[in-house]
Amino acid sequence: MASFPMAVCSSLVFFFLFLGFSEARDHLVGGKSDSWKVPSSESDSLNHWAEKSRFQVGDSLVWKFDASKDSVLQVTKRDYVTCNTSSPIETYTDGNTKVKLERSGPYYFISGAEGHCEKGQKLIVVVISEKHRPSMGVSPAPSPAEVEGPAVAPTSSAHANFKEGFLVAMGALVGFLLM
Ligand SMILES: *[C@@H]1O[C@H](CO)[C@@H](O)[C@H](O)[C@H]1NC(C)=O
Repeated sequence: MASFPMAVCSSLVFFFLFLGFSEARDHLVGGKSDSWKVPSSESDSLNHWAEKSRFQVGDSLVWKFDASKDSVLQVTKRDYVTCNTSSPIETYTDGNTKVKLERSGPYYFISGAEGHCEKGQKLIVVVISEKHRPSMGVSPAPSPAEVEGPAVAPTSSAHANFKEGFLVAMGALVGFLLM
């Protein structure tokens, strides 16, 4: 029977390997194809959508829009805030736009259509770095103080969710081994 916990441990190792090197994903901006437009309300805004998504280095953003009416501009933070369309970093006009997220950190996008950015057609995507993955070597279960203490104040909600999932998985393992 001693080999049984070993089997559990090795499947857990594979589980975390899989999590760590999970495939790059395509994110359709707004979750549906006609989303690149002036939002009808605050809750409809693309940043609302972005906050609920988890973007990793290597993932791509995909926009579908009518190329005769709109475009996507990648801009600096300053130009994002002021809706300045005069000197974008990149301009995408093909209506079927794919942007690969090559680095961690924030990306700023605004609409190239006149007046649309001012009405809220803009998007910030924060890409999380691979450094945020929990290391594979950890085996001690976290103490309750570590879990609940202020020391684990999350830096982003995506990170927090991931950490929570990790702790749940570790807790399940410990519970299993004690059975
Ligand atoms: C927009 O950006 C350009 C280039 O950075 C700058 O010359 C121009 O003054 C800016 N316009 C506004 C309205 O801030």
